[in-house]
Amino acid sequence: MKIISHPKNTKFTLYIKQLPVYFSFYNFFLTKQYHSQYLSFLNILNIFAGKFVGMQLEELKSKVTNILKNKDQSVTKRLHSVCQLLRDHVEYYDWVGFYFRNGNKEELKLRTYAGEKTDHEIIPFGKGICGQVAISNENFIVPDVQAQDNYIACSFTVKSEIVIPLFKNGKNIGQIDIDSETSDPFTEKDERFLEFINQEVAKIL
Ligand code: SME
Repeated sequence: MKIISHPKNTKFTLYIKQLPVYFSFYNFFLTKQYHSQYLSFLNILNIFAGKFVGMQLEELKSKVTNILKNKDQSVTKRLHSVCQLLRDHVEYYDWVGFYFRNGNKEELKLRTYAGEKTDHEIIPFGKGICGQVAISNENFIVPDVQAQDNYIACSFTVKSEIVIPLFKNGKNIGQIDIDSETSDPFTEKDERFLEFINQEVAKIL
């Protein structure tokens, strides 16, 4: 009787036979010498990526200043354009908004934002990341929102958040809040950049 082998079986057998060859290639590239070269290559890529982000944020500063000094538009419209600019140009900024103290109440009110609509237009002081910053007066970077107890979830796609307080005459009057769908993307570069933006915003308030 003639046995006709199935083409799939033939291919599968071939893969199995070649496994030792694949493993030897793998081991060859994992020798210390190649491994360290690979790591240096990754380091160089990271340095370039860091520089690129830094440059990109620097370029955005002058655009923000130009938007804010346009007195033909209302302050809220200018703030909205800043949110839009940041969201459109920084890859890991997925939701950008400004909260301000709601009159004399111990709560924050969302003034304007770019990104998905949120249910959290009012946030009591002390609640969530924003509410904590209203009291602490300190920058707050959350690399992983799921690891936070006192966190108000806006969307299940959000992985990280940064909140930077906004001071006018030394008083904490609001904040810029940014949500990201990337894990742990925020660095000191973002802190310095967003502090600059808040200082510029304070000038027109
Ligand atoms: N996550 C924030 C709530 C505001 S949303 O991010 C728009 C918080 O925990 O305070």
